[in-house]
Amino acid sequence: MPRAAFFTALMALAATAAPGAHAASSDADTAMLALAQRHGCTACHQVEPGGQASDGLAPLGPAWRDVSLKYTGERSVEDRLVATVLGGSRPHLSHWKGERSGASMPAQQPSISPEDARALVRWILALGPRP
Ligand code: HEC
Repeated sequence: MPRAAFFTALMALAATAAPGAHAASSDADTAMLALAQRHGCTACHQVEPGGQASDGLAPLGPAWRDVSLKYTGERSVEDRLVATVLGGSRPHLSHWKGERSGASMPAQQPSISPEDARALVRWILALGPRP
């Protein structure tokens, strides 16, 4: 078998070996993380609590898994969080007092569209407890 054909066969085998449902959800995670990175969210947020930012200090914003757990089951929370992402958080009304630096989140509009903000918030809220 020529070398190129061998590699093509190998790649096909690797692709079929991936378990369907699991691959689907991690594909969605990968896409949303890429979106978050493109919009600069990951400069201040990580998914899991307890991480370090690139400067070695605690990330400025709350971990998104904590955000998901904090608001699980709250009514109209999606709209509220989309408004926060677009317009920023209120400097004197921190929802993360005592847990984070107390810095407020800057408005992300116009660098992020309302659609992308909603997609990210939906994904964050659906994270739930650590698997
Ligand atoms: C410059 C740092 C910074 C960036 C960039 C940033 N955030 Fe934040 N974010 C924060 C801080 C700080 C808080 C905590 C605000 C508070 O105390 O209420 C926060 C809070 C949040 C919350 C929870 C709000 C609440 O009311 O509890 C969500 C959701 C969120 N950010 C999503 C995002 C998304 C999505 C992006 C990218 C589009 C992003 N953030 C970019 C710093 C940032």
